[in-house]
Amino acid sequence: MKIGFIGSGKMALALAQGIVRQNVAAPSDLLIASPNDGTQDVFLSKFPPQTVHWTSDNAEVARAADLIIIAVKPQVINDVLPQLRAASANKLVISIAAGISLIKLESALDKRARVVRCMPNTPVLVGAGACAYALGRNATPQDDALVMKLLSSGGFASRVEEKQINAVTATSGSGPAYVFYFIEAMITAGIKQGLSKELARELAIQTTIGSALMVRETKLEPSTLADAVKSPKGTTVAACEILETEQWREILVKAIAAAKKRADELGAA
Ligand SMILES: NC(=O)c1ccc[n+]([C@@H]2O[C@H](COP(=O)([O-])OP(=O)(O)OC[C@H]3O[C@@H](n4cnc5c(N)ncnc54)[C@H](OP(=O)(O)O)[C@@H]3O)[C@@H](O)[C@H]2O)c1
Repeated sequence: MKIGFIGSGKMALALAQGIVRQNVAAPSDLLIASPNDGTQDVFLSKFPPQTVHWTSDNAEVARAADLIIIAVKPQVINDVLPQLRAASANKLVISIAAGISLIKLESALDKRARVVRCMPNTPVLVGAGACAYALGRNATPQDDALVMKLLSSGGFASRVEEKQINAVTATSGSGPAYVFYFIEAMITAGIKQGLSKELARELAIQTTIGSALMVRETKLEPSTLADAVKSPKGTTVAACEILETEQWREILVKAIAAAKKRADELGAA
């Protein structure tokens, strides 16, 4: 199966690497279209030399691919979709463009295109992504199974109703940035308290990974696990009092609502 990527940025590379890592397709099955060669060296360096096919012609990739993955920014989608229209008939087309609805994709592509709208996130790059996808009107149960397999090659994947996709975008699509901010703040704070940068970094990373794994493996509520760390009048209580006073939960809720609003706006543009 030839997989054609339209766009060769961070997400295209993350997905392509997951697909190859999990043997869903070989590097020689990947076709990449990108107008400039700015990302070409970085992209191609991740695969054996002379394996991945590269062109600046979106329509060429759409014609040659069995499955088309649209991985361009939402701002250029209106230029790109007409270039894919003729070749998209009866093909599976997966779009990862934030905010771009199935209706918009389906009406710009051939009416027989089998469209899927997907929202991955950058941890796909290390096999720990969180993706959700919604099926368009022509997508078949076989497409559903293929998309699930493809996205699972990069981590967790879940099928959702399209009306939930912008909320997914705001939660897990943009989510790694919130967690990176958190880790960075923890490192800065550790250094401020006298740790070396290296040690503060490892402690912050491992604490984040370990805590997330505990939520998953114990199946307990995060607040229950937090309570278990707190002893009366102890250090954690002292820290959590500050977090609650500074209303960090409300800040995160507001941040995610802003991301959802932006995804809605991008879809309406
Ligand atoms: N970044 C994230 O965390 C994230 C998470 C979930 C979903 N997404 C979605 O994934 C999509 C890609 O995001 P990204 O972060 O990978 O962006 P990116 O790194 O900026 O990559 C965009 C790619 O599209 C290429 N491109 C620009 N105009 C094009 C055109 N007319 N035809 C073909 N390719 C074109 C760019 O090439 P040049 O650089 O050479 O111009 C670049 O390779 C976006 O729609 C975004 O909403 C991103």
